[in-house]
Amino acid sequence: MREDLFDRSIAAGGRFSHLLTQKPEYKDLVTFAWCKNTPVYNWFYYKEGYAGELVWNLLDRLNIKKGSTILDPFCGTGTTLLACRQNGYSAVGYDILPLGVFVSNTKLQQDYDMDLLQENIQKITKKKFTETRLKWPDLGFIDVKRAFSKYARKDLLFFKENIMEVEDEKIRNFLMLALISITLQASNVKKDGGVLKIMKKKNLPPVRHLFKNKLKRMNRDLKKSEPLPTGGFAEARLGDACTLKLEPETIDTCITSPPYLNWVDYTKVYALELGLLVDSSRDMEELRKKSLRSHAGAKQGRDVTYKSEKMRKIMENISDAQFNKKAQVIEGYFEDMYASLSSIYEALKEKGKAAFVVGNVCLPETIVDTDLILAELGEEIGFTTKEILVANVRWCDVHGIRKPRPVRESIVVFEK
Ligand SMILES: C[S@@+](CC[C@H](N)C(=O)[O-])C[C@H]1O[C@@H](n2cnc3c(N)ncnc32)[C@H](O)[C@@H]1O
Repeated sequence: MREDLFDRSIAAGGRFSHLLTQKPEYKDLVTFAWCKNTPVYNWFYYKEGYAGELVWNLLDRLNIKKGSTILDPFCGTGTTLLACRQNGYSAVGYDILPLGVFVSNTKLQQDYDMDLLQENIQKITKKKFTETRLKWPDLGFIDVKRAFSKYARKDLLFFKENIMEVEDEKIRNFLMLALISITLQASNVKKDGGVLKIMKKKNLPPVRHLFKNKLKRMNRDLKKSEPLPTGGFAEARLGDACTLKLEPETIDTCITSPPYLNWVDYTKVYALELGLLVDSSRDMEELRKKSLRSHAGAKQGRDVTYKSEKMRKIMENISDAQFNKKAQVIEGYFEDMYASLSSIYEALKEKGKAAFVVGNVCLPETIVDTDLILAELGEEIGFTTKEILVANVRWCDVHGIRKPRPVRESIVVFEK
């Protein structure tokens, strides 16, 4: 991280400037890079995830006792849950997407009947193809017929149908996770930022081949992995971080990363994988509306009451420039962040800590300092901001800006 870039960045920190600390060693840990190379964490590629090592670092830094219960209200594919569980902590996570909850819980499974697993892998990968009665749901904005070749489309459903018939729940989940995780590779779709692009891929391997290889790798990971420490628990649940239903004062620490305010709609980016888990396009639409308002497809129209002075200023800039649609998303995002901060505050024990990994946003007309706004919102609720660890600062590269401005990716640490 360049010194001058960091200095420029903290100059705009206002009353939180003294809490901003450079942490270049966290730069790669706020990305999925570490998970990509780590067994079990890499069973599903979730670009928006962070590193298990970051969770371990934060638990140490915040001095959290072993055996404590950690909450991740935006658990994604379960990095926090698995990292906590492997290290002698208990953990509970929530995600609005059934995909995240399913992947998290499957990664946390243990005590497999390994002989039975082997037998099922052999059986399913050798099974001769037959037509199935299962159908793809209408994914709405992406045409399944263009997203997959006829063979891939049918093969995926064939394997899904056979997996659904497996009696042992753990083995069924294991097989299903392998299938879901190869869906994108088996398609004619490429993820490009927050959108899916259809493009004819050359020499696409058959589904059966991808599935078999994935199962082989996952099975090898299972054989090598250490058993999880006894006594703890970890679980992901389907739920909305804005309205957590947790007993008050039962959680020791929260470590999480909400969706960034980057207009990315997770239900679109993971539409193909969700298509194997969700029954209908109506379910898909419902999910889209329920997610945090970090994109235009989410529900709009709750009351907005600007609880942060910084945010009020940003909104003035944006309204002046008449970017109303954009303004609506920003307002909704921070309203939802306020609601989720309040839920977390309630669930935390006295003196409980909360760490939020967030990214600031660069718009042509202004910078949205998510970390500072979050700090203001947290303090409004009753939290004390302890530190803001700056993992990364880059120059804003949005087309049309008048002068270059630094944009941070940070971890905001609160205490109740
Ligand atoms: C940045 S990702 C978290 C990634 C996670 N740290 C990991 O390593 O896998 C944010 C997650 O928040 C979820 N999400 C969006 N809106 C939500 C809401 N209202 N309640 C709970 N989770 C939500 C998204 O589905 C996404 O999985």
